[in-house]
Amino acid sequence: MKILVTGCAGFIGYHLCLKLLENPKNHVFGIDNLNKYYDLKLKKDRLSNLKKLSKKFRFYKKDISNISDLKKIFKNNNFNIVVHLAAQAGVRYSIQNPRSYFETNMLGFFNVIELSKVHKIKHFIFASTSSVYGSNNNFPLKESENTDTPLSFYAATKKSNEIMAYAYSNIYNLPCTGLRFFTVYGPYGRPDMFLYLLTSAIKRSKRLNLFNKGNHYRDFTYIDDVVGAIIGIIPKLPSSKVPFSVYNIGSSSPKNIKNILKMIERIFNKRVRINLKNIQKGDVFKTHADISKISKRINFKPKISAKEGINRFVKWYNQYYKK
Ligand SMILES: NC(=O)c1ccc[n+]([C@@H]2O[C@H](COP(=O)([O-])OP(=O)(O)OC[C@H]3O[C@@H](n4cnc5c(N)ncnc54)[C@H](O)[C@@H]3O)[C@@H](O)[C@H]2O)c1
Repeated sequence: MKILVTGCAGFIGYHLCLKLLENPKNHVFGIDNLNKYYDLKLKKDRLSNLKKLSKKFRFYKKDISNISDLKKIFKNNNFNIVVHLAAQAGVRYSIQNPRSYFETNMLGFFNVIELSKVHKIKHFIFASTSSVYGSNNNFPLKESENTDTPLSFYAATKKSNEIMAYAYSNIYNLPCTGLRFFTVYGPYGRPDMFLYLLTSAIKRSKRLNLFNKGNHYRDFTYIDDVVGAIIGIIPKLPSSKVPFSVYNIGSSSPKNIKNILKMIERIFNKRVRINLKNIQKGDVFKTHADISKISKRINFKPKISAKEGINRFVKWYNQYYKK
């Protein structure tokens, strides 16, 4: 199978490519613009791991907001599957920088789905987010819940992606599946996310900005469980008349941020110094996924507990930054 993964140097894209390359029948093509939203070294290291691992990985350093570059890549490669993960991620950054979200998440998304239609891709799978639920508190959140009132521009772009994909499925019969990821974490994780910021603050004896006194809940989901779900959904084309589906991908076990903080303090046997900050605009209070829909479709069962996952993350962090 020829699979295109956009955002392949990103956290989830990297782990997905690693897993796809374990199957000798797969050829994996990656696109990423290697932007500097966070430490570029991390992206370059992920990429060099992929290149070292397999000759069946081919990388294009391109920006998805430029359609002429993308056209050539699609024309030359006959992809069967597209997993579209490239995005400007992060809720907080979208407050100051909405344009970069528009360019990548709206225009870039359009370019990738349009070429997927032109080249008759068998299954277009794309990343959405738990943020589309906004302040909806009918926990656990089901896919059928209302998602019309996003709290951030990031969430607005992701919700728009779901609507655009629905229309492409309806008009052009393009099989599309959106995956609403819930707080994904693990080795090589994102430096702008809480677990990484906390671990880094404690290791470097720096202060941590703690919003809303840590009185938030997040449905922390380990990266291997997320990758398992993406790979499981690849052969499962939507079976409805309009070939479109959307699934929550979470652990369905929300954790209090303060408790995560205490867990990390125990692991390092050290207190973290805190700057207390007010609740940030755009942040939701709690996420909690109902995962019955994905569980039925692909027999999805999160395997890694928060305790195990956090230990794996810390082990990776300590090794990676030892150098
Ligand atoms: N990690 C999470 O907890 C989480 C939760 C919900 C949704 N998501 C979504 O999952 C996807 C992957 O997230 P991630 O955590 O791996 O993020 P990430 O930032 O690590 O990866 C995204 C990658 O896309 C690349 N990219 C950004 N703009 C691009 C452009 N214009 N052209 C080409 N490449 C571009 C970046 O360089 C980056 O390597 C994103 O769509 C994100 O919105 C992630």
